Amino acid sequence: MVSQAVFAGTVEEEFKIEGLISPASPKALQSALLKKLAVKIIELRLKKTKTGWPVLRLQFDTETISREKIEKVIGEIEDPAGHKYKVHHGPLLANAPLLDEEQQAIAILGDTPEAFPIMKNPITDKAASANRGEKLFVNNCVKCHGFTGNGYGTVAHGFTTWPRQLWAWNNTGEETDGYLFWFITNGRSDMPPWGLILSENERWDLINYIKTLKNPGDE
Ligand code: HEC
Repeated sequence: MVSQAVFAGTVEEEFKIEGLISPASPKALQSALLKKLAVKIIELRLKKTKTGWPVLRLQFDTETISREKIEKVIGEIEDPAGHKYKVHHGPLLANAPLLDEEQQAIAILGDTPEAFPIMKNPITDKAASANRGEKLFVNNCVKCHGFTGNGYGTVAHGFTTWPRQLWAWNNTGEETDGYLFWFITNGRSDMPPWGLILSENERWDLINYIKTLKNPGDE
């Protein structure tokens, strides 16, 4: 990173962005930024960036605004679905290939319905279920969603549809069961439809585990 501390003035800097998780997300980020800050957006490049992370390039005047301030504002913006963005500071991870069965599953995925059924989680021993779910999570989900559920998985940084921050579901009640089961079963965009790969009970174990994931920022 070039230091800007010595001469104030107009600079152009890059920000790696996490949280571009839906087609509407890039637009929402850009319009919110322009509303909140005196910056000029040079580009938001989603694909084929050097590091694999989406890159936002901004021009701004260091006399009136700092990089820290911009990062803070980016962290406060939400996309239309209520998911947050963040400037990426974490490690750059090497690409790990998807398994054959995952690629086939993604290929089979067509349009998915908007509506999802209300469902009841049939598993009563939640703690034992979450333990089984943790193993399934490490084997199947971490490569995209990351160990903390933050979406920093090794294969994910080329995606424009960001693997969601699964800790957002921490401690949510039964009302989210239908959505989670539906999403895990059917998948969407780069999320494989696990209904083709995992049993129903395994999917419920995963849901019980996901609900125990804590926001890594809280620790
Ligand atoms: C190949 C990468 C990949 C793998 C592996 C993967 N996911 Fe995902 N996941 C995604 C992406 C990408 C999204 C966002 C999809 C979208 O919004 O279109 C997502 C979204 C989700 C969502 C929706 C969350 C929300 O906030 O709406 C859940 C739940 C989820 N994944 C659970 C899992 C579980 C459980 C596993 C392991 C069994 C798993 N994922 C494995 C890529 C992956």
